[in-house]
Amino acid sequence: MATSRLPAPRTPGHYRVALVCLGNICRSPMAHVVLESRLADAGLDDRVEVVSAGTGGWHVGDPMDRRAAATLSAAGYDPSRHRARQYDRTWPEAYDVVLVMDATNLDDVGGRTERVGLFRDLDPVDPGSEVPDPYYGGDDGFEEVLAMVERTSDAVTAELAAALEDPA
Ligand code: 4NP
Repeated sequence: MATSRLPAPRTPGHYRVALVCLGNICRSPMAHVVLESRLADAGLDDRVEVVSAGTGGWHVGDPMDRRAAATLSAAGYDPSRHRARQYDRTWPEAYDVVLVMDATNLDDVGGRTERVGLFRDLDPVDPGSEVPDPYYGGDDGFEEVLAMVERTSDAVTAELAAALEDPA
């Protein structure tokens, strides 16, 4: 029987994941698009719901940062459907897991709990590290974020498959 490193879903057979950063225009949208792509590849897209949000509200309604979108497009993903939204403090009770990008995000959502942690807790390379904010840096920062997000999304997809197999 598979044992997941993610918490059990509240509703057996269905999993709801929330991804959180500061602005919801760079890191969590990139993670959102890549994780949804991995879930579709694994045939889990009908059982796993993914949302993303920023703890700040400055960009609500905006599309992805154009550098984040260009980095995703160049790697074969579709960034076009994203619109930024703001995190809601009720989400840890609504979603099965809330995965944030850095330590500031973790503080802003009220700290680590059984259902709240860092996205990179599941990164096979440097687990427990932050996804650095690429907003004020150069294009290579977005490439670095994509590499982290791709390998971590592979791991998250495997853990979601296990969480959906486990009896609730
Ligand atoms: P994100 O990056 O948290 O990865 O979306 C940022 C986007 C916007 C701002 C900061 C970080 N901002 O200050 O507007």
